[in-house]
Amino acid sequence: MQIKVNTKKPYNVQVLQDFSFQPNKDFNSLLILTDDVVAKLYLEKVYSLYEGKNIVVKIIKHGEESKSTQNYMEVLSLLLNSGFTRNDAILALGGGVVGDLAGFVASTYMRGIKYFQMPTTLLSQIDSSVGGKTAVNLDGVKNAVGTFYQPTEVYINTSFLKTLQKKEFENGYGELAKYAFLTGKKFTKDVTTQTIAEAIKYKISVVEADEYDRGRRTLLNLGHTVGHAIEALSDFDIPHGVCVYKGISAIIDISAKLYDFEKQKTERLKNYLSAFGIDDDLVFDKKSILQKIKSDKKAINDGINLVTVYDMGDCRIENISFSRLGELL
Ligand SMILES: NC(=O)c1ccc[n+]([C@@H]2O[C@H](COP(=O)([O-])OP(=O)(O)OC[C@H]3O[C@@H](n4cnc5c(N)ncnc54)[C@H](O)[C@@H]3O)[C@@H](O)[C@H]2O)c1
Repeated sequence: MQIKVNTKKPYNVQVLQDFSFQPNKDFNSLLILTDDVVAKLYLEKVYSLYEGKNIVVKIIKHGEESKSTQNYMEVLSLLLNSGFTRNDAILALGGGVVGDLAGFVASTYMRGIKYFQMPTTLLSQIDSSVGGKTAVNLDGVKNAVGTFYQPTEVYINTSFLKTLQKKEFENGYGELAKYAFLTGKKFTKDVTTQTIAEAIKYKISVVEADEYDRGRRTLLNLGHTVGHAIEALSDFDIPHGVCVYKGISAIIDISAKLYDFEKQKTERLKNYLSAFGIDDDLVFDKKSILQKIKSDKKAINDGINLVTVYDMGDCRIENISFSRLGELL
């Protein structure tokens, strides 16, 4: 399946169950950026797709800490010392960490070179590989430095997910639950190629409407306001996707009070969520969560734009003051 992304610079997303892509080879040299776990599993295979091309490989350590300015500088130096020009390209083979770093390098090296995304985690296949948000972390602040820079092509091979560990699946489930509420589709833990295509199609529609995150893209924050607060309070011990999941559960309760839902409607919405089988306990007390939300960088004066769930497939953006949020939480 091929899906077109109509951003300022349009591109295609190929969604397949194997390696039968038609990869774009319109470059001289290719840097394959990957992490140590993914390299062991898939580097040889992916290398063979580009036979005849000059290939340079950079393997970073797996994990969020690798989305660093140090790795950014190292990859830039490698490109320069390997003689990469504006006719060359980068392939991001890995999850969101590799994808965000590769995109940031590609957007700044020689004022921008091509990059391709080959996402290997559930999260990156349904979300981060599309949309052009690139970033590295700085001084402990996530995504503190980054750009909007769309890839040249995205290759999703759902068979990558066969080797993904349970914890990483759970990370993806939080975002998948988000897409279930945004699209109104009954996604569950049973992830198929169709599920991935439907989730990424929704993301594409939002990105096309708001490439630079000035309005509609806020919808993609569903579950993230409360989720980020829980993640920070746990000192990043609780995985991001699990926090998003808990955040969506809290938002259903908040929405129920805000829109005065009947009990049955709240139960129906909670039932959808429970299909992912994650504990929705908030872990921390509501006062601490509210305090954390107040320090969120997205806070505007004394309130926040909160994505609510009015119904399946009907999520809304509401500007809510902190005092009101305190009552609703
Ligand atoms: N750019 C965006 O729009 C966007 C959106 C959401 C999240 N993100 C970013 O994405 C990052 C998280 O991405 P992630 O969850 O993919 O994490 P990740 O890239 O750290 O990958 C998670 C783990 O899974 C391993 N792995 C990857 N593919 C595998 C496979 N097929 N089999 C076995 N193991 C595999 C990796 O080695 C790693 O240890 C965060 O930095 C977040 O900020 C970006």
